[in-house]
Amino acid sequence: MSQEPKRGHFAKEKGEVILREHEYDGIQEYDQKLPNWWLFTFYGAVVWFVAYWGLYYYSDTFKTAHQLVHEEIIAVQQKKDAELEKTLATLDNSTLVHKWATDPAIVSAGEATYLTNCSACHGADLSATMVVGAAKIPLPGLPINDGVWKFGGKPMDLFKLINKGSPPESTGNNGAKMQAWDQTLTPKQVAEVISFIIAKVPADFKDIPAQ
Ligand code: HEC
Repeated sequence: MSQEPKRGHFAKEKGEVILREHEYDGIQEYDQKLPNWWLFTFYGAVVWFVAYWGLYYYSDTFKTAHQLVHEEIIAVQQKKDAELEKTLATLDNSTLVHKWATDPAIVSAGEATYLTNCSACHGADLSATMVVGAAKIPLPGLPINDGVWKFGGKPMDLFKLINKGSPPESTGNNGAKMQAWDQTLTPKQVAEVISFIIAKVPADFKDIPAQ
């Protein structure tokens, strides 16, 4: 050792070698000013880390198409659940019979939805039959205008049945079950369809009191 190095907190100049002032268990530490290229790389990496971390976790920049679609599906499902919750909160048998089913705009919206989605199996006239020439052929669905309600005849029973489809314990109509419509229709559309049904067969719902 030619010369005892200077002591100090840290090196301040290029090429300077400092023996730092602290000493623990006989261990001493050198300090030397790091070259600028090294420091720039280091600080650059720190900045890059912060930027990358932000982009990775808080933006869509590095997400795969698969992740984006997955997140989108979850968001749509949550929106649907929230909508169902909201619609259900304001909906009950009495509201459907005495408010919705007496509003011509709601009933005709329900009719349009019915003719597009339901009449293929339940018939345009709700009888679950189709007239072909002189013959009446049965369709896969159950008649809706026969006064018989297999899964309960209250409007909210229908709401559940249409949203969720045939209950698991049902053996179906000649083996045919109904799909869940909540993947196709919004809760509002389901309520409109029920209003249309109520308006078509009001006698089945006359016992439901107005609030
Ligand atoms: C692909 C055929 C098909 C379509 C389309 C269909 N349904 Fe059904 N629906 C059925 C079948 C089959 C049943 C009987 C289910 C069972 O017994 O499990 C049924 C039962 C019902 C019932 C109970 C009827 C009763 O007498 O108890 C209602 C109400 C009903 N559907 C309404 C609808 C509405 C509203 C739509 C349109 C959004 C619709 N259905 C579309 C096949 C269909």
